Amino acid sequence: MKLNTVHLVDNLDFLKEIDSEIIDLIYIDPPFYTGVDYQEFSDQWNSLNHYLEFMQARIREMHRVLKKNGSFYCHCDPNAVFDLKPICDSIFGRNLFKREIIWNVGSVSGFKSQVKGWVRQHDTILYYTKSEEFTFNKQYLPYKEEYIKKMFRYKDEDGRLYRKRRGGKQYLDEKPGTLVGDVWNDIYSYQTRTKSKEYLGYPTQKPEKLLKRIILASSNEGDIVADFFCGSGTTLAVAKKLKRRWIGVDNNPKAIELTKKRLNSK
Ligand SMILES: C[S@@+](CC[C@H](N)C(=O)[O-])C[C@H]1O[C@@H](n2cnc3c(N)ncnc32)[C@H](O)[C@@H]1O
Repeated sequence: MKLNTVHLVDNLDFLKEIDSEIIDLIYIDPPFYTGVDYQEFSDQWNSLNHYLEFMQARIREMHRVLKKNGSFYCHCDPNAVFDLKPICDSIFGRNLFKREIIWNVGSVSGFKSQVKGWVRQHDTILYYTKSEEFTFNKQYLPYKEEYIKKMFRYKDEDGRLYRKRRGGKQYLDEKPGTLVGDVWNDIYSYQTRTKSKEYLGYPTQKPEKLLKRIILASSNEGDIVADFFCGSGTTLAVAKKLKRRWIGVDNNPKAIELTKKRLNSK
C-alpha cells in the first residue's frame, strides 16, 4: 500500500484491497445517521438497519487491517452510538472496548438551544484496541492558574514554584500537568468557532486539536494513521504534522480535492 496518499473511492472497496494488520491507528468520523443531506455528502438512509449494515461491513475490515497493537476510534453521536456499540463489541470483543470518550462540543446557545428538553452538547468517541498490548501515551493539560496558586505556594531562589512534600520539595516544572481523562471539555467544535483560520467550511469538519490528542495518545512517530472517512483531511493533516505516515479515503470528490490542497500546503 502506498503511504501518504488519499484516495477517491468507496472505503469498503479500498479496505478489501489492503493487507491485514498493517495500520497502527484508525480514526473514523463517518455519517452519524442524522438524516441530514449536507450537499457534500448525504447522511440519509433507507433505514437504521441499512446504516448499520453499511458500518458493520466497514468496521469489520478496519479491524482486520489494524495491527495487533493498534487502536480504533469511532466518532459518533447519540443518533446511533447505542446501535454502533454492540456492532463494535462483536467485532473487537467487548473486553477490548476501552473507553467512551465524551467530547463536549461547546456552547449550548444559538439555534440548537431552541429544542425542547436538554440541549445536546456532546459527541461520543468509541475507543477500542485490537489487543491488550496497545500503544498509549498519556496526555496532559497545563494546570489551571487557580490550582497553581493554591497548590504551589512557595518560590525558591531561582524563582521556581514548588510545594512542600514529606520527601522535600515538589517543583511545578517537574510535574506533567493534569492528566486528560475521557471527558474532553477543552476543545471547541466549529459549530461554535466557524471563524477559525483552520476551518475550511467542510460540513462536520473536526478541529485539529481533537485529532492531535488522539494521534499523540495512540501512535508514535513513523506509525501509520488511517482515516477511511477523511472528509477535509483533518486526521491526515495532523498526522503529517506529527510525523506519522498516513492514508486517507473519501468517496466525495470535493473532500479529496480539499484534502489534497490541505496536505500540499503543510
Ligand atoms: C463526517 S464527514 C468527515 C469529516 C472529517 N472528519 C473532517 O474533519 O473533515 C464523513 C465523510 O465520509 C465520507 N463518506 C461517506 N460514505 C463513504 C464511503 N462509503 N466511502 C468513503 N467515504 C465516505 C463523506 O463523503 C464525508 O466526507
